[in-house]
Amino acid sequence: MPASEYQTLVLGKSKLHVCVAGEQGPPLALVHGFPLDHRMWRFQIEACSNHARVIAIDLRGFGQSSGDVSDITMSDYADDCAAVLKALKVDEPVVLCGLSMGGYVAWQFWKRHRERLAGLVLCDTRAAADTEEVARGRRKMAFDVLARGSGFVADAMLPRLMAPETFDRFPDRIAELRQVIEATDPEAIAGAQRAMATRVDVYGWLKEIAVPSLVLCGVHDEVSRLDEMQDFASQMPDARFVAVPDAGHMAPLENPEPVNAAIQAFLKEMTV
Ligand code: MLT
Repeated sequence: MPASEYQTLVLGKSKLHVCVAGEQGPPLALVHGFPLDHRMWRFQIEACSNHARVIAIDLRGFGQSSGDVSDITMSDYADDCAAVLKALKVDEPVVLCGLSMGGYVAWQFWKRHRERLAGLVLCDTRAAADTEEVARGRRKMAFDVLARGSGFVADAMLPRLMAPETFDRFPDRIAELRQVIEATDPEAIAGAQRAMATRVDVYGWLKEIAVPSLVLCGVHDEVSRLDEMQDFASQMPDARFVAVPDAGHMAPLENPEPVNAAIQAFLKEMTV
C-alpha cells in the first residue's frame, strides 16, 4: 500500500486536514459521516490507494480541521471539498464517496460542482430531508452538546451506527469510534446537527444525476434503510445498488471487504 501523507490546507478562514494516499488512477475523495473524521475510511484508504489517488477529507470542525461552523450548511461542506481538490491541484473529475452525512454533502457537491464529478459512491445515506420530529431531535442535541460536551453523544450514537453483531465481533472498532466522537469539538457537532436539520430533500434531483453511481447499504442499517436506498438508487439513471452483509450504518468499517471490492470494481469500470 502506498504511504499516506497528511496535509493541512489553509483555505480562507478554515484549516482543512486531508489524508492523501496513492498517486495513480482516478481521484477518489472520501467524505466521512457524523460525528466522525477521515479515519472511518482506513480500510478503503488502504485498499483503494493502489488503484486511485485517495483524498480523505476531515470536514470543517471535525478531526483536525477547523473553521467557522456556527452557520455551516451542507453546501458549505461541499464547497470546502471542492476547495480542497483545487488546492491539491486535482484537475480531473473525481469520484466522490460519502457516507451518511458525507452523502448529504455529495448531493450538494453534485448540485454545485458537477463539472468536477466523474462518479458518486453513496454509502449508507438518505435522499430524504428530516421529518420535523427528527429535526427537533437534532436541534436538541445541538443545544445539549454545547452544554454537556461530546461524551454523551457517543452513548447516543454508537448503538445506531453499528449492527449489534459488530459490537461482539469488533469491540476495538467500537472503542475507536467512541474515542473519535468524544474528541470531537462540541461546536462542530452542534453545527453539523443544525445543518442536517435544514438540509433539502433531493428526490427531485435523482433523475438528473446522470454520473455513474454506486449505492451501498449495510443490510442492518437502521438510519439509512435498505429499501429506502434501493428505491432512490432505482430513480438514478446510472446507479447500481450493492447490499453489504453483516453490517449496519457504518458498512465500510464493519465489513470492509465487500465495500472495497464494490468500490474497486466501480473505479476500474470508470478507467476503461
Ligand atoms: C451519519 O452517520 O452521518 C449520521 O447518522 C447522519 C444522520 O444523522 O442523518
